[in-house]
Amino acid sequence: MKRSTDVKDYIRTIVDFPHEGILFRDVTTLFADPRGFRMAIDQMLHPFAGERIDKVVGLEARGFILGGAIAHQLSLGFVPIRKKGKLPGTTISEEYKLEYGEAIVEIHDDAIQPGEKVLVVDDLLATGGTAEAGIKLIERLGGEIVACSFIVDLPELGGRAKLEKMGMNVSLLCE
Ligand code: PRP
Ligand code: ADE
Repeated sequence: MKRSTDVKDYIRTIVDFPHEGILFRDVTTLFADPRGFRMAIDQMLHPFAGERIDKVVGLEARGFILGGAIAHQLSLGFVPIRKKGKLPGTTISEEYKLEYGEAIVEIHDDAIQPGEKVLVVDDLLATGGTAEAGIKLIERLGGEIVACSFIVDLPELGGRAKLEKMGMNVSLLCE
């Protein structure tokens, strides 16, 4: 078990996954460490102490692990944004581009009520395509996004700039 107070020290990089040339930031090592995982959740929550949040939305798949823990800590409900075809009820969808591919994400059309304050959670911000699609889904349902919170930023891929241009408050723990 590690002792570091820097979340970055718990994250490993896998070279050439899932494709050649990609440096994959693997947060499973952070999640598996009891101190690291608690620290990451605490640090993600810290900027929002005292803020009104009604729902936590997690982006598949690692955003579910973080978003579930954050929602539980705040005694709030959790809403998943999933890859196409996984949600059983009526959904709305958005298509987007990834660092390594394309995808479609969906949300249940009754998961957010108009005016609800939403915290969006995921593990990593790369191009910002996933988060942008998630933001569009939440806003189409009338949700108001308080912030988008991630652990890792890959600044060279421009995700932060993209989300800030959309008027988002972006919270990140490390690069
Ligand atoms: C990763 C990561 C983010 C997204 C970030 O998920 O967890 O959701 O990529 O990339 P972007 O900023 O360029 O959109 P991935 O698409 O690998 O899906 P998974 O978590 O379901 O494996
Ligand atoms: N999602 C997109 N790019 C990624 C990367 N480099 N590491 C982990 N997840 C990612």
